Amino acid sequence: MDKQTEQKRAAGEYAASLIEDGMVVGLGTGSTVKFFIERLAARINQEGLDIVGVTTSRQTSSLAKGWGIKLKSVDEMPGIDITIDGADEVDVALNGIKGGGAALLFEKIVALNSSRNVWIIDESKYHPKLGTFPLPVEVVPYGSHQLLKRFADADLHPQFRRNADGLRLTTDAGNYIIDLQLTEITHPQALAYYLEQTIGVVEHGLFLQVADAVIIGGDDITIIERQ
Ligand code: A5P
Repeated sequence: MDKQTEQKRAAGEYAASLIEDGMVVGLGTGSTVKFFIERLAARINQEGLDIVGVTTSRQTSSLAKGWGIKLKSVDEMPGIDITIDGADEVDVALNGIKGGGAALLFEKIVALNSSRNVWIIDESKYHPKLGTFPLPVEVVPYGSHQLLKRFADADLHPQFRRNADGLRLTTDAGNYIIDLQLTEITHPQALAYYLEQTIGVVEHGLFLQVADAVIIGGDDITIIERQ
């Protein structure tokens, strides 16, 4: 296991220790969350915990089902106690970029229905400012080529995300992803507002003031609470 994967494993397994009997738990998406789910499943089996999971993607649903975790949809539950999710980049204010796994829309819906949101990352993702990771924007397919041109005219350096076969990637909700190669996002709130006002945009990967805490796997576990 390389250093980054080891840090993801450490963060994911630590997060599983935060889960208590009876909780409704939001299950994020990605390679770090995979470690969390495996450890959570082990705790459920060993300790007989009564846990309901609410997933954020088809990928996570199939992983969690494979481990025998009881699942419900976000609409079936009155609320979610805690959501554990990965992130692609996190700044010192605990704002983040998510959507590298194309699950940003359902991740944001689950996050906004959660009493507490905890992200698990390796230390390479923690930066003073956001923008190193391309910003994913989920868009409706109709008119998306025009939208791409509009983003290009606004110097947002857009690219459709594609599968290995070269076709445009389709999200679980049937939309496309446009990634914006921005280098540095100096005003995340203004960019989020601009994207939210743009017709055709379904959701963007800026998660501002969403995470309550971030767990960073390193030689030691670092936990940062949002101030
Ligand atoms: C999914 O769309 C993303 O938001 C993931 O949460 C993120 O990409 C997770 O990254 P890792 O696979 O590195 O954990």
